[in-house]
Amino acid sequence: MYRTEDIVAEYGVTKEDLNRFIKSCSPSVINDDGKISEKTFQLVLQFIEDKKDRIGEKLKGEVAKYKIGDKKVVIFQDDAISFLEKIPSNSVDIITTDPAYSGMNNKLNLGKGRIVGKYSEKGKKNGKWFSEFEDSEENYTRFLSECKRVLKTSTGHIYIMFDSFSLLSLGNIVRNFFDVKNLITWDKVNIGMGHYFRRRHEYIIFATNGNNRKLRNRKFPDVWRFKRVHNPAYPTQKPVEVFQAMIHASAEDDFTVCDPFLGSGSSAIAAIKNNCNFIGCDISDKSIELSTCRIEEFLKNSKDILQKKSMAVEKNIFWE
Ligand SMILES: C[S@@+](CC[C@H](N)C(=O)[O-])C[C@H]1O[C@@H](n2cnc3c(N)ncnc32)[C@H](O)[C@@H]1O
Repeated sequence: MYRTEDIVAEYGVTKEDLNRFIKSCSPSVINDDGKISEKTFQLVLQFIEDKKDRIGEKLKGEVAKYKIGDKKVVIFQDDAISFLEKIPSNSVDIITTDPAYSGMNNKLNLGKGRIVGKYSEKGKKNGKWFSEFEDSEENYTRFLSECKRVLKTSTGHIYIMFDSFSLLSLGNIVRNFFDVKNLITWDKVNIGMGHYFRRRHEYIIFATNGNNRKLRNRKFPDVWRFKRVHNPAYPTQKPVEVFQAMIHASAEDDFTVCDPFLGSGSSAIAAIKNNCNFIGCDISDKSIELSTCRIEEFLKNSKDILQKKSMAVEKNIFWE
């Protein structure tokens, strides 16, 4: 006999979809105690497989897929919400992400234009490298509800990066979906540009998907010191170490890490270094071009072409 809640946890099918399928079997094949027979279980497996094929067909934005031993890295070009909508429920262990909020840029009119505009490609006057994610409450709520759906209830941990503006306007919405456990400060060591005070930090909300799964150990502090990447190939490129800290703290063997705002692919490199599966997406051509090139080179030669040296400034308490 098989319990439906075990099937939901194990196979990433939603409870609603499974119940709908079971109800459609005639006569009803489920016992009063919520268990189903071996024969019905085979039907359920077939149903899950068919569903996966349909999802596979729908994932049209897939641009690259790599296999390293038994691990997989898959990259999509898509809008973050549309990408998440195509991922099966209850199938991702960790989300580590750094959305392109528009709030900070609206405040930073620095003479020549918005901060992201500063990175316009040669020949494109006032062009931007990438679009921003509209950080309205409505959009952000849709984004978080999709994050919640794809994250496993048993293991799901989520790390979301924020600048000060977006933290104040959107950070509280995270509580509507997840159990917020910590607000981590990433100390970039050196100052950057800024509105009044010059910026030296960003925030990371750490939350669980309603579970009490612990971190790898209890030694990790909530201030992380890693230098920013100097003259990055991709604007807003974050040090791999920031993502490694998140993944190292939360990952276990065979975990799947997801980043719907991939940028230069720092989170993908961190996931590979931590022996995890990875699924990521970005809307921009430049991001897809750079990140797939970076991942391919890293898999071939273990060389990170976009971050040549470590950004750690002190003995690394995370993984050394
Ligand atoms: C802050 S950057 C991420 C940087 C990345 N963490 C790194 O280390 O390189 C945000 C990314 O979100 C992407 N983006 C903006 N709007 C998006 C959307 N609607 N869906 C998916 N990606 C989007 C941008 O193209 C940009 O690459």
